[in-house]
Amino acid sequence: MSSKLINFEVQPGGVLQGSLRVPGDKSISHRSVMLGSLAEGVTEVDGLLEGDDVLATIGAFRAMGVQMQGPDNGRLVIHGVGMHGLKAPTAALDMGNSGTAMRLMSGVLAGQNFDSELIGDVSLSKRPMARVTEPLALMGARIVTNEGGRPPLRIHGGSKLKGIRYQLPMASAQVKSCLLLAGMYAEGETSVTEPAPTRDHTERMLNGFGYPVKTTGSSMSLQAGGSLRGCKIDVPADISSATFFLVGAAMTPGSDLLLQHVGINPTRIGVLNILKLMGADLELRNERTVGGEPVADIRVRGGRLTGITVPEDQVPLAIDEFPMLFVAAACARGETRITGADELRVKECDRIAVMVEGLKVLGVDVEELVDGAVIRGGEIHGGEVHSHDDHRIAMAFSMAALHADSPIIIHDCANVATSFPTYAELAREAGLQILVREATAG
Ligand code: S3P
Repeated sequence: MSSKLINFEVQPGGVLQGSLRVPGDKSISHRSVMLGSLAEGVTEVDGLLEGDDVLATIGAFRAMGVQMQGPDNGRLVIHGVGMHGLKAPTAALDMGNSGTAMRLMSGVLAGQNFDSELIGDVSLSKRPMARVTEPLALMGARIVTNEGGRPPLRIHGGSKLKGIRYQLPMASAQVKSCLLLAGMYAEGETSVTEPAPTRDHTERMLNGFGYPVKTTGSSMSLQAGGSLRGCKIDVPADISSATFFLVGAAMTPGSDLLLQHVGINPTRIGVLNILKLMGADLELRNERTVGGEPVADIRVRGGRLTGITVPEDQVPLAIDEFPMLFVAAACARGETRITGADELRVKECDRIAVMVEGLKVLGVDVEELVDGAVIRGGEIHGGEVHSHDDHRIAMAFSMAALHADSPIIIHDCANVATSFPTYAELAREAGLQILVREATAG
């Protein structure tokens, strides 16, 4: 079999300018496909992310008999089959690179009366799934994993689930969401308590579909046996994709960029809070609520950032933004200390190890910690780095070229298509001198 190899080659220097809208939020897109499929009636989604991760979720529901039109230009029309209308798939459901798809789907599938199997790519097949299969087992689900709780997940249908009260051992919206979704199929109440706030899109969207979720302090609960009503969803631009531009512009004097229609849900704005602490010039304009999610246009003007100690309470609120924040720290004046971020080690790759490795190649003074890193800002040199097939690592290193003294080549960038298929195009329009090189490997 042959696979496409994609490298980014980025020339040094430049500034980011103009006005742009990045694609739809990945977390909200996944959830709209899942809840729309399980709803009664039609759900119309606009602004959907057409990245590979969301396409995997769409493919899974199609394989279980859900009819959908699209996605086309961000529009997807879903003909929901109701809570009990899914059909047994005839083959394993391939979640590709997506941890969100696999973990949330495991909650939905645990409640079905048919068997199913969830598989993924090489990276996903190494990621920990016991964090969902263990609490699902407490609810009565029967799921067989590979050694060490790794995928594939073989889910036996027909189990009678019962609600649980569960204290999450780690701050994870994926685990919280998985259990709430399974809770819809369980007997009685399911309640999840989180050690720190994580993204609350599942709770917001369930309420939007008419399925009440109660939030009391750090606990979220729902009663089994309800139903979902199809609705309209307008997906805001993904703050995690906007981050590459936001941070790239904020750290580069002379930049001036407007990012349109960005989701600014309070559980997602760690990156804005951290950037402000580093001295970034950010302005939120036209703040509004769209379909239950807060949205704004964000203007960012470039300057010199200052190193900080990142407050640990901001880590879960910026969990996907750290590859780019490592780059911001490398360009800032002084030292940045990141701790309490051990979850980064179980993302699409070990993001602490891989960012430290790449920054060292570029001549940055960086020290790896078990749960983060200490980065001393200074000059960035050119060089060749590897993304380890992680979309966010690839995009982060491409923006590092704004500060480099010679070109940066990033290997293995094909997975940028999982969350941001138009990245290179938009980055070029904004002023990054980025070229996409394709090669075919046998
Ligand atoms: C996500 C939650 C986060 C995040 C991931 C998307 C979600 O993971 O890293 O990209 O959509 O719920 P954890 O909740 O496991 O930290």
